[in-house]
Amino acid sequence: MTALLETDALTVEFREGGLGALFNPAGARVTHAVNGVSLSVAPGETLGLVGESGCGKSTLGRAMLRLVEPRAGSVRFGGTDLAALDPARLTRFRRRAQMIFQDPFAALNPRLTIGETLAEVFRVHRLCAPGEIPQRLAALMQSVGLSPDLAARRPAALSGGQCQRVGIARALAVGPELLIADEAVSALDVSIQAQILNLLTQLCAERHLALIFISHDLGVIRHLCRRVAVMYLGRIVEEGPTEAVFTNPRHPYTAALLASIPRMAPDGSLPPPQLLDEPPSPTRLPQGCAFHPRCPKAFALCRQGPAPALRRQEPVQVACELYPPLVNGSAPAGH
Ligand SMILES: Nc1ncnc2c1ncn2[C@@H]1O[C@H](COP(=O)(O)OP(=O)(O)OP(=O)(O)O)[C@@H](O)[C@H]1O
Ligand SMILES: [Mg+2]
Repeated sequence: MTALLETDALTVEFREGGLGALFNPAGARVTHAVNGVSLSVAPGETLGLVGESGCGKSTLGRAMLRLVEPRAGSVRFGGTDLAALDPARLTRFRRRAQMIFQDPFAALNPRLTIGETLAEVFRVHRLCAPGEIPQRLAALMQSVGLSPDLAARRPAALSGGQCQRVGIARALAVGPELLIADEAVSALDVSIQAQILNLLTQLCAERHLALIFISHDLGVIRHLCRRVAVMYLGRIVEEGPTEAVFTNPRHPYTAALLASIPRMAPDGSLPPPQLLDEPPSPTRLPQGCAFHPRCPKAFALCRQGPAPALRRQEPVQVACELYPPLVNGSAPAGH
């Protein structure tokens, strides 16, 4: 199937600003937030993006919408390279791909009522005639499970769950084909999380929406996403159908992440933590596989040369030296 959104070797770096960088640009510290990510999402597909804090999930999501300028690589949406779009076409593209944020309250203007916030979207994007706005507004609010009576309220008078429903409504108003939800339920109570997740599932199915769901919560991703990509220090280290990745993790990092979900033993004790130390800083990436300093299975090859690329291990892809590239469809001798 043709991809809706496709990144090719997408790379984002942040350079340290300030006087130090001005006087010594060559020595400026560089954060390698996203390192050569090639990932695609098909129309209507749900893709989870998971990894520890600071691994580059939000930056990748933002770069996919060109909210941050990549250092290298490309993003194609519906076959068009976003770098080739002039500002007017980029604005039109942004209608087709919308972002939902973690803090629903902060994402809304506290001075505007919910009705005003949503009506503004219809007006700015000229989605309908001004006279049709009240009717469209009521239908939109109902589609996300909000009573149209709430249109007169300001965000401060709504619960966190209601604010997130407004955030979703605002994203849906423009009729997008892709939603990128960045930790969209992390700030909510668990019972409210479930309601919002059910709403997202229902909306994606009804409207054939593609969803990139960024989260550090593996349970949520398993529930919501058909496919998952595991990110470590700016790279995708494993990617494939969610059930395949969760039931048989190939990459030692995926295995450690899954094992670190707190599951109490029958005697009430917690299992020992799997990932003891913090990941290395993205300003000083280790040579070879970036996970090798923490990997229980690392061997000599893992510490040298470039980081391993994603390699096909049906039905997943994994970037790990334990899975050497296939030669003519089979593993090379010696492995
Ligand atoms: N605007 C920025 N300027 C400088 N560095 C940044 C900027 N945004 C992100 N970074 C750095 O890039 C790296 C990746 O950050 P990012 O926010 O993408 O991670 P994340 O996986 O979303 O983390 P979290 O789970 O905590 O949200 C981090 O080292 C972060 O400090
Ligand atoms: Mg983030």
